[in-house]
Formats: sequence, structure tokens, C-alpha cells
Amino acid sequence: MSTVTDPNTRYSFVPAPAPLPMIVHGEGSYLYEASGRSILDAGGGAILTNIGHGRIEVADAVHAAMVKLDYVMPLWATPNRLALHDALVQDWLPEGFNSIFFSSGGSESADSALRLARAYHLANGRPERWKIVGRHPSYHGITLGAISAGSHSGRRAGYEPLLLDFPKVAWDDPADVERVIEAEGPETIAGFLFEPITGASGGCLVASDDYWKTVNEICKRNDILLIADEVMTGFGRTGRTWGHQHFPIEPDVIYGGKGLGGGYVPMGMVATTDKVTAALNSIGGFMFFTFTGGDAMCAGALAVLEILKREQLVERVSEVGSQLERRLRMELGDHQNVIEIRGKGLMLGIELGRDRHSGARFDAGTKFAAKVVAEALDRGVWFYPAGSGPVQDAVMIGAPFIIGETEIETIVSVLHASIDAVIANSEAVAEET
Ligand SMILES: Cc1ncc(COP(=O)(O)O)c(C=O)c1O
Repeated sequence: MSTVTDPNTRYSFVPAPAPLPMIVHGEGSYLYEASGRSILDAGGGAILTNIGHGRIEVADAVHAAMVKLDYVMPLWATPNRLALHDALVQDWLPEGFNSIFFSSGGSESADSALRLARAYHLANGRPERWKIVGRHPSYHGITLGAISAGSHSGRRAGYEPLLLDFPKVAWDDPADVERVIEAEGPETIAGFLFEPITGASGGCLVASDDYWKTVNEICKRNDILLIADEVMTGFGRTGRTWGHQHFPIEPDVIYGGKGLGGGYVPMGMVATTDKVTAALNSIGGFMFFTFTGGDAMCAGALAVLEILKREQLVERVSEVGSQLERRLRMELGDHQNVIEIRGKGLMLGIELGRDRHSGARFDAGTKFAAKVVAEALDRGVWFYPAGSGPVQDAVMIGAPFIIGETEIETIVSVLHASIDAVIANSEAVAEET
């Protein structure tokens, strides 16, 4: 047996492009390597460390729950399971969303939402409805159902024979939505799945109100369930509780993950309106996952939500997000390699390319955004890489809601320096410019 000392090659079965950090500690908006070097977590990990790192009260809540209870069947009640359900219904979800199914993250929630849409139509005597309309580009997770419903070229490549053939519509073209739904036949469609702001596949694409009005109107008219994927946009990330609340659209199903556990516990949830719940009940329910709603995990999520409320962090996102966006525009708005700065709250995307005036992108093989992310990491800031299909290169900022002016200035200056350094140093880029 060979001995491998590099921590990356020891535990991961994805070959790492470069030596990646070994993190031993987290505090506030920063992660720390064993050497003591700090990394500003501008990407919020994978856009989820909403309350920041090192919140002992979350660990205490999990500990207090786990010393009393370990595993309990998902259909049975436990104190924290019930408390999290009630907190979500009373304080977080829109009016009318009274039923929640817990999962362990975003992909499980996405898959459950697809199953739920199918079950809703079966309960209503429409077995011919099975298709889920997705958007191009989009990302909903890595289970086969979630990959099928999404349109992320890199995540689908090679797996196509395993995927369901779900129709896709353009991310911001109302006419395409009408055309595709008409061509497929509304009587075959169970649901329309959308990220209110397109995350990792698109680097924070924000569609127009006209688009959302059209989607809403067609889906309501045809009883196609509107399913909001709030995994990234939920729990305050965009400056409102839910990302869809920025737009004229009324979902029937809302599911979330990431921010619900804030990075402390693996939690996801699917919430529905009474109309959907009543249909599900009529066909005898919905199979759970073994780890649906673990009591200690619910306790951790409750502590995360409690911190968000007590410190008014969702309100803070609008303020800090606008400040950060303003500084990004000042510093990078005219930069030749910045095509667009977009997003809402603390979910901001910076699309990169060869030339902002012509809109020319780099060739796919250039991997410009990945190089910028690696350069920034060397300089002590983590950005989240994004892009697929029409969005070749983007980086995302999804910082903890607690960042202040120091962090904002570091984010802006390191991003600027990293883009310039890649342009100056990269042979691939230099040859083509
Ligand atoms: C919008 C969206 N949906 C679903 C997922 C999948 O979540 P998870 O990685 O927790 O399975 C992600 C993950 O990035 C996401 O961004």
C-alpha cells in the first residue's frame, strides 16, 4: 500500500487541480489553516455559511439534543422536529405553507419535490402528468432526478443515458416558456422547477418580471405545480426571506437546504401549500429518508434560525449586499474582463470574459474563472466558481451575513488583483488576447 501524505489525495476521489487548504478552525467570516493563515470565506463555503463560523451555541444545541436522543423513526414526533416545523411555518414560510418534509440537503429536497409533483397529479387522477419543466441553465443537485431537471452541462456530461428526458425552457424568454409548454402538452406536465436567481450554473442570473409573470400565469392556468428551489436563495441570502419574493411568482412548493443548517448541520426541507398536502394525504403519504428530521439536526437548524432572527441578519443582508455591490461596481464595473455584475443581497455574480465591450468570452478550455478562484485563494480569499452553458466563466460571492467594511474591501481588492494577475500570468489567456 502506498503512503500518501497530501490530505487532498488521501480523502477525495476527485483529483484536485492544485493543493487545496487543510482547514482546522473557523471563526466569524474566516477559516484558518493549521499554519494559522486565514482565508476570508467570501463564497460562504458553497454559499451557505450564512451566520458565519464558530457559533458555539449551535454546537451546544446539537449536543444538548443528542445526549437525550439519537435515532427516532421519521414519522414519530420529537421535540426539536416539532419545534423546527413550527418555527418554519410561523416565522419563515409564506402564508399557507403549513406542511414540511425534512431531508438532509438540497439534492434530496429537489428529488423529493419532483416526486411530490408527480404524487399530486396522481392523487388528482392525472397519471399522464410526469414531466418537470426545468430552465437552461440551472442546477438543482446531484441525484439523478435533480440532474435530469437541471441544465448544468458539466454536471450532466456522460450521465445522459441515466437521466429522465425533461423539457427545458430558456432562463429569461417568456415566449420560449409558452412555446415549450404548448409543444410538450400541458396535460403531460407535473411541475415547473426554478431557482429564483440562477446559482452555480449561471453565476446569479436574474430574469425579468415579464418572464416570471408568464411562467406564473401559464402554470396556474394549467395546474402545473410551481416549485421554487430556494436552496441557495432561501433563508435571507438575497435580502428577503425567500428569493422568489423579489419577483411576481407564487410557488406551490418551496424547498431549501444550505442556509437552513448554515453549514453546521446537513438539513433540507420541502414545504407545500394545503392544496398539495391534501392531495398527498388522499393517496396515503410520502416515503421518507432514513435521516429525515433527525432531532439533533433539527436542534442545530433551530439554533441557526434563532441567530438569524435575533441578530436581524436577513435585514443586514440588504444593507451589506448593496454596499458590496456598489464597491464592486466602482472597482470592477469598467474592467475589460468583467462582463456583468449581478444578483441580489449577498448572492452576487461576476461574469468574466475576454472583453466587456464586445461581450466576447474566453474559450471553454481557458478555465478563466477557475484560475481567478485559485489565484484569489492564494491571496487568502475564497470565491465560489460558477458557470455552464451560456455562462462560460463566473465567480460568485455568497459571504456570511456578518461581513463588515474590512471584509468588503478585501473581497473587492483581492478579486480585482486576482483577475489582473490571471490576465498577466496565464499563458493560455495571454496567447489569445
Ligand atoms: C439551487 C440549488 N439547488 C440544489 C442544490 C443541491 O444541494 P446539495 O448540494 O445540498 O445537495 C444546490 C447546490 O449547490 C443548489 O445551488
